[in-house]
Amino acid sequence: MTTDRATVDGSEHPAGAAENVSGVEVKPVAGHIGAEITGVDLAGPLDDKVIALIRDAVLRWKVVFFRGQRLDHAGHIAFARRFGEPVLLPRRGPHSPPDFPEIETTADRLELAGRYGMERDEWLHRRRHTLLRGWHCDYGTRIDPPAATVLRADTVPPYGGDTTWANLAAAYAGLSAPVRAFVDGLRAEHRLGVGYQPRPGGDPYARRLLDEQVASVHPLVRVHPETGERVLFVNGYYVEQIVDLSRPESAALLEMLVEQAVRQEYTVRFRWEPGSVAFWDNRSTIHLAPSDHTHVGAPRIMHRVMLQGDVPVGVDGRPSEPIIGTEAGRW
Ligand SMILES: [Fe+2]
Repeated sequence: MTTDRATVDGSEHPAGAAENVSGVEVKPVAGHIGAEITGVDLAGPLDDKVIALIRDAVLRWKVVFFRGQRLDHAGHIAFARRFGEPVLLPRRGPHSPPDFPEIETTADRLELAGRYGMERDEWLHRRRHTLLRGWHCDYGTRIDPPAATVLRADTVPPYGGDTTWANLAAAYAGLSAPVRAFVDGLRAEHRLGVGYQPRPGGDPYARRLLDEQVASVHPLVRVHPETGERVLFVNGYYVEQIVDLSRPESAALLEMLVEQAVRQEYTVRFRWEPGSVAFWDNRSTIHLAPSDHTHVGAPRIMHRVMLQGDVPVGVDGRPSEPIIGTEAGRW
């Protein structure tokens, strides 16, 4: 199935040119996003040329998938480190491994709701202000959102629980020229808890949003620091308001842009198996966590390592600006 040592022919390896590293293949799975990489054992020694090929594939296809891997926590971190510096979260979920601060584990589907004293259904009801709400990049309210995420499936339900990603560079390119020119100069406020409807009479999550808010102003169109592509930096989860627009103008434009971003042609959906690994560029994609497996009654345990990112820059060269939280070391 996999090889510990890919034989390398020594030639150049432009993006997607899988044939240059023998035994390793990059197979696109959707028109604009997603590729499966085969013939590589992520737990084994990996030649620099294999790493370069994977990096090129992530930049080209935005998310890449590996199946049948046998990574443990240390191997997962070691693999991620070949591409950048792992993020160390000051607070992690209760299932995260204490000896591996680079890893965050999600295990209990009620975990987050329970932390705030709610059943999952109420929690979701209070959070889902739009149908596009679930789409997000990881930690996008920070001034320096993570550059990439490496997510590994430990235990997955027999059906349900797929993840979907959308290519924000393709979504930008698919806008009409006048709209591209219009959005190029705009900026938007990203914050935690957009649209959340608090419980009357005191709500611990609303309290946390006040006490531990993390918010930034990011360009609405980000220039990707590695590819130079323009990226439509929107999502339904964190984006509160387009700066300088009225609230109705902002709401209408954001709805149009998020719908554009998640058009089926810009997405790819992945069916997880134990040992599957997805590695995505968190700067040029958004993803949708699944919500179709909670009734299945089977655990879904996933381990994540994120890589540190830089401060986004707009088409006009202006960087993002922090509003609150990052300076206090919050995530
Ligand atoms: Fe996520």
